[in-house]
Parts: sequence; C-alpha cells; structure tokens
Amino acid sequence: MANLETSYMGLKLRNPIIVSSSDLTRTKAGIIHCQKAGTGAVVLKSIFEEQFHDLGEIQESDYGFYPEAVDYLRSGGLLEYGPQEICAMIEEVKKEVDIPVIASINCLSPKLWPRFARQFQEAGADGLELNIYFLPLDLESPASEYENHHVQILKEVKKAVSIPVSVKLMSQLTSVPYLANQLANAGCDALVLFNWFVQPDIDPEKLKTKSVIGKANFYQSLKWVALLAGRVDCDLASSGGVRRADDVIKQILAGASAVQACTLFYEKGLKAIPDLLKGIEDWMDSHNNAVIDDFKGELSFKNQELTFKGLGQAKAYFRAQYLKAYAGLKEEEE
Ligand SMILES: Cc1cc2nc3c(=O)[nH]c(=O)nc-3n(C[C@H](O)[C@H](O)[C@H](O)COP(=O)(O)O)c2cc1C
Repeated sequence: MANLETSYMGLKLRNPIIVSSSDLTRTKAGIIHCQKAGTGAVVLKSIFEEQFHDLGEIQESDYGFYPEAVDYLRSGGLLEYGPQEICAMIEEVKKEVDIPVIASINCLSPKLWPRFARQFQEAGADGLELNIYFLPLDLESPASEYENHHVQILKEVKKAVSIPVSVKLMSQLTSVPYLANQLANAGCDALVLFNWFVQPDIDPEKLKTKSVIGKANFYQSLKWVALLAGRVDCDLASSGGVRRADDVIKQILAGASAVQACTLFYEKGLKAIPDLLKGIEDWMDSHNNAVIDDFKGELSFKNQELTFKGLGQAKAYFRAQYLKAYAGLKEEEE
C-alpha cells in the first residue's frame, strides 16, 4: 500500500494534508480533532500584531494603526487568543498530539515578528509560518520596497529561532520567482502559496464600499508551485481551493511537499480528511507510486524545462500557449 509520508520544511509529516491556519486550529480541542481525523500537521490560527495594541504594549506603529482593528479582534474573540494564551495552548497540545504544530504570525512592525517567534519556539511549536500581508498604497513606493520587507522580516525571525520557518505569500506580487528565490536564499524553509485576502466591493444602491472575502484560486497556486518547484531552495506548500483528492495529487505533481486546506473542512467537516487520504492512496497504487517522492514534481516546470533549450525557449512556449488561448483553440485530448 502507498506510503503517504512527506517531508515539509524539515518536519516529518505522516501525509501531505495540513489543516491551514483558521479557527479549526485555534484551540487544543480543535487541534486534537484534526489529529484524530488524520491530518499530517496543523497551522495554528495566526496571532495578529493588533492584539498587543490592546495590551498597551505598542503605542505607535510605523505602519499605522486603525483603532477599529482591535474592536474587530475583540468581536471575533481574538483578544483572548493572546501570545500567553497561545503559548500555554501550544505547551498543552504538544503533550497530546504527535503531529507537527506550526504557529502562525501576522504582524506589521518588524520588531514584533521575532518576539512572537521566540515565544512560540519556547512553548514548543515545531515550526513557524509568517503570514505576510501588505496592501501597496503608496504612489512613491516601488514593488521592491514591499518585497524587501518580506526578506527583512524573515531574516529577523531566522536570527531569533532555530525551528523551521515558512512564509505565506500574497499572490499579488510583481515577481513571485524573484522574491521566492530571495527568501529561499535568506534561509526560508518553505513557501506557502498563497495567502487569503479581502476584496473591495461597491453597493451601488447605498453608494458604499465594502469588503468581501476573496475566493482562493486553486490554479494560481498550482501555476506558481509548478513554476518554482526544484528551482528555489526550499519546500513548497499550496494553499487555496483544494476540494478533492485529485487537487492534492495535482499540487504534488506540480512539486508541492504538502497541501494546506480549510474551506473544505468547514464545508464537509474533518471527515473529508480520510476521504482525501483514501483518494491519494488509490491513485498512487493505481499509478505504481509507492512513496510521495515517486511523483512529487513530476510535472513541475523544472522537470519539463529539459524539453526546452533554456528559459528563452520556455518563454516562447508560454507566449505560444497564451496566443493559442486567445485564438480560441482548445487543448488537444490525448
Ligand atoms: C475562517 C477562516 C479563518 C482564517 N484565518 C486565517 C489566519 O488566521 N491566518 C492565515 O494565515 N490564514 C487564515 N485563513 C486562510 C486559510 O489558512 C487558507 O489560506 C485559505 O482559506 C485558502 O485555502 P482554502 O481554499 O482551503 O480555504 C483563514 C481561512 C478561513 C476560512
């Protein structure tokens, strides 16, 4: 029978499914449920910088502070989910589960990232996920300014801890490969593609703007996993839009070491995990893949690159595919 074990950011996972950062992983009971359902690892609900503002620990931030942010956290019950509480929860949960527990941090000012990171490491977290999100608003700031900030944050955190660190990226970056490579060179152990986001909408009757939750784009994640795998020196996890075992298999064929999901578990419950695992196992058995590494990255760009004469020809190929789509031609069935 197929062996689903995988290695992700230096951690050994019994299978490639990770319950991603969400309310499903916010409590000890929730994490124990995830382990029982069969997940390979969990990423804890993120801790947000604004939780410190309420404690009066930060008076000002270079990145601005909107007082209502604390009210939003309070309404969502997140003020009780402070750093001490999370550390105590990590200590407790680590006594009861044997799957890797990855803590998640979402800050703005550079000084808090390493501080949370150190606390979570001391509490016993097996790894850290840096959930980095910026909205570029400034007309004078080039993309490189925002992107360098990612590398700065990672470097500060890596100085503070010895456990593996991943970065969960936003998809709206000018050059995903360039930043991914910079992060990998700065010691990033894994990249998570991609972050969750909110989108603006307009109510034309009330003449008001509002925020709506963006829908994860599975194909966006699949594309970048395939384009980066084996070319940057760190592991990759997909995050977004996984609903079926086939989706997990596609991401691994593209080069992912692990696949994060959560909307599926909100919709179908954690019982969806054994279904995913069974689907992956059956597919591996029917394709004679004994272990994940047998097919990981088989359809990555790196593996296909051998069929191109350098990046120039690859670019020409992608240009041709683009034109083919615009010419209304369909992919040929084999
Ligand atoms: C209710 C809910 C809460 C979430 N909270 C966080 C969070 O605190 N930190 C984070 O990095 N991602 C958070 N996410 C995003 C998920 O981790 C994941 O990246 C995203 O939902 C895309 O994957 P999916 O299509 O499987 O849902 C949240 C998602 C949901 C649905």
